[in-house]
Formats: sequence, C-alpha cells, structure tokens
Amino acid sequence: EMMREITGISEMENSLKKILGVSKVVIVPGDSDETPLVKEEIGKATADILSSCLDKENIIAVTGGTTMACTAEMLSSDIGEGRKLLFVPARGGIGEDVKNQANVICATMAEKTGGLHRVLYVPDEVGLEVYHSLLKEPTITEVLDMIKSANIVLHGIGDALTMAGRRRTSKTAMKKIIDENAVGEAFGYYFNENGEIVHKVPTIGMQISDLEDIPFVLAAAGGKSKAKAIRAYMKGAPKTTILITDEGAASEFLKGH
Ligand code: F6P
Repeated sequence: EMMREITGISEMENSLKKILGVSKVVIVPGDSDETPLVKEEIGKATADILSSCLDKENIIAVTGGTTMACTAEMLSSDIGEGRKLLFVPARGGIGEDVKNQANVICATMAEKTGGLHRVLYVPDEVGLEVYHSLLKEPTITEVLDMIKSANIVLHGIGDALTMAGRRRTSKTAMKKIIDENAVGEAFGYYFNENGEIVHKVPTIGMQISDLEDIPFVLAAAGGKSKAKAIRAYMKGAPKTTILITDEGAASEFLKGH
C-alpha cells in the first residue's frame, strides 16, 4: 500500500475512476505491452476482485482473450470453498485461438476453483438461418439462460484493429471497422472514440445491453496501446464496472486530461 502511495498509483486510480464514472479502478504497476509479467499481475488483481464479489451461488460469464486466460491461471481452489461457481462463456465463437477462447478459459477457471462450466459451441459468424436454428437447440438455450442469469461478468477489452486482425474478419466488416474509425472492442462489439457501436460480430449470447442488470462487471485490460480502446468502451459501459488495468494504459489515458 505504501509503495502505491509513493508511486502515485492510488491517485491515478481515483482520477481514472472519476473520469470514467465507474465504481472502482485498480491499477497494477508497469505496462503489459512491454512486460508480459504485468498482464499476469492484472490477472491476479482480477482474480482477487472476483473473489470479493462472490455470492453463495454464482454464475460467472467470461469472454476470451489473453488477459482472461491469465486471470484463469491466477484462480485457486480457496475462492470456490463453500460456494457454487459456474463459469459460462459470455458469447458464442468470435474468432480466437483455442487457448484464448472463452470455452477453454471457462474450463480452466472451473478446474482451478473446483467449480463447474458450460460450453457454448457456436461457429464463428453464423448466418441468419443457422442462428435461428441454433436458438432452438436445447443444449444452447440452456446455456443462454445461464448467461442471462449471470451475477458476475469478467471481460477483456481490445484495440479494434488488433482484434479485427486477430480474428478472421470479412473484407466488408474490416472496411466498416476502418471507415467508421473503430478504436475499441469488447464482447464482439466495435466502438468508435465516442463509444458508439460501429460493428458487431454476429453471434449469440450476452449483448452489451444485458450488462446493465448484472451486479458485478469486471473489465480487465492493460497496456499503453489499449488506452484509446478502454476510453471508447467505457463511454457506454455500465457504471457498476470495475476496471482492472495497468500503469501503461492509465498514464496514457490521463495524458489527455
Ligand atoms: O475476443 C475476446 C476478447 O475478450 C475481446 O472482446 C477483447 O477485445 C479481447 O478478447 C481482449 O484480448 P486480450 O486480453 O488478449 O487483449
């Protein structure tokens, strides 16, 4: 705690919290763009906050990405003691490497905590016809119901172009993302600097509007390169959001203020 005072991190947390209008901001020292270990620290901090948000029975909706994968690695069995934990992917496939897919991350989280998990197998970018038949599949509707009743959401935020490039993004979608000046991405939604949605990966599961009803939303994203993305996403994010980030993103963010 003393170290945080000296380095001014607590002060940065307060400023960021005020500017973003969110319920809490936690900043870990360093920049995860430069130091991979810092992403693990974000994961650790996210795991700690998660444990403080838990109820007796929990449904935790989780997105994909490397920050969520780090968070999964930092969970341990003590947070599951005396509680029920069920991890569900927040949305269907939105194009990530297997190890960074929400399905796999949920499985790891369940394993680490002694909890349960469900998978949501949806092909990337489903067509309208497939989409409608999927919504009639009992194995899928069951998971969608669980997502709807989640009390906690854990999610990442990414730079728009980085994410579009990391996914198999169609030429038309790519053009839209570039032409509309998208800077941030979360849950398969792309946002411009004003926080407006300019593109959405068509898949099933949690919609941004569902977040308003969820008691705890934990957003974990760091690195100087994500400052713009975090700002864009946070413009429309629910005020209950807890942001876990790093000094790299935070100091870049605060430069403009
Ligand atoms: O693709 C899932 C996702 O959570 C995106 O919504 C987000 O932009 C990205 O992963 C974050 O990934 P990372 O933590 O690797 O930057």
